[in-house]
Amino acid sequence: MKAIISEKYGTPDTLKLSEVAAPAPKQSQVLVRVHASSVNFGNLVLLTGKPLLARLVFGLRKPKYPIPGGDMAGVVEAIGAGVTQFQVGDEVYGDLSSCGWGAFAEYVVVDEKDVALKPSNLSFAEAAAVPMAATTALQAIRDIAKIKPGQEVLIHGASGGVGTFAVQIAKAYAAKVTAVVSTRNVDIARSLGADHVMDYKKEDLANHDMVYDLIIGVNGDQSISAYKRKLKENGLFVHVGGTEIQMYQTMILGSWFSMIGKKKFTTFLQKANQKDLLVMKELIEQGKVKPVIDRSYSLSEVTEAFQYFEKGHSQGKVIITI
Ligand SMILES: NC(=O)c1ccc[n+]([C@@H]2O[C@H](COP(=O)([O-])OP(=O)(O)OC[C@H]3O[C@@H](n4cnc5c(N)ncnc54)[C@H](OP(=O)(O)O)[C@@H]3O)[C@@H](O)[C@H]2O)c1
Repeated sequence: MKAIISEKYGTPDTLKLSEVAAPAPKQSQVLVRVHASSVNFGNLVLLTGKPLLARLVFGLRKPKYPIPGGDMAGVVEAIGAGVTQFQVGDEVYGDLSSCGWGAFAEYVVVDEKDVALKPSNLSFAEAAAVPMAATTALQAIRDIAKIKPGQEVLIHGASGGVGTFAVQIAKAYAAKVTAVVSTRNVDIARSLGADHVMDYKKEDLANHDMVYDLIIGVNGDQSISAYKRKLKENGLFVHVGGTEIQMYQTMILGSWFSMIGKKKFTTFLQKANQKDLLVMKELIEQGKVKPVIDRSYSLSEVTEAFQYFEKGHSQGKVIITI
């Protein structure tokens, strides 16, 4: 089968389209004919081996997962003898980033507990946009923030892969959403249902009077102290992404603020799981959430896809079609 292989840590041009043996499903695994994948920050970490701490998980000298694709949508082509949830022909999707990767390929094997039936109203390309980005937003908003209807939520960096899902998921949980985006993304944020849209090229968050119950830092650039000033008395800041400095500030300064005051600060790591794929399937089939696709690349153009994604200006998701 054709697959994108990453033999050493490096830049996107180290990725090679190669012929490798197709895998066969073991007892509880399904073999999926992959139709589409998408690009997330996790793929970049696996590709570059940076930050260096990630090599403790991904391999010290070279990536131990040679096919660096995480998100996946495709069709079950064969099943192991112990598979009970799926049949040949089922259309499935999943996030393979914590179960061996391998989605930048024509076929992948995955344990049945790590995939779910894909939303029936999405194409494979649209479904491949969902797993990691949407479940990251879902877990931040539902599990970490325990959002309540009517709460004022600020989503800083609402126009990329995670941010476009975060706006819609917060709305699905009946929050009042303010989205911070650049000028060219104002219409996207409005179309996703944001109640207020702040254009960070024209307005400074610090100059606004509004304070929030919850701030989700997806791709923001403010200091933790600046976010603290924008929180209500019992407000919460959840660091999803953004700058590395923000992450360390949240862990160190944010933990200190959380200890001495009522405003809380936390960061978290998404965990892939089948249950959340099913929650997203339901939200999408109910029409409450839809993926935003920026552009698509073919498997042989994965290098170009990474070069585009790493610039950090994607409008929604970058898709790989296979
Ligand atoms: N915690 C976790 O488990 C987890 C999981 C997945 C991702 N993440 C993190 O989440 C972050 C977002 O990931 P992603 O895949 O959504 O990234 P992405 O798709 O690359 O996000 C790009 C978007 O961010 C916007 N942006 C850039 N700088 C901004 C700023 N200063 N203010 C507001 N918007 C800004 C860009 O629009 P403009 O350029 O037009 O402003 C662009 O639309 C990353 O830092 C990633 O590492 C964390």
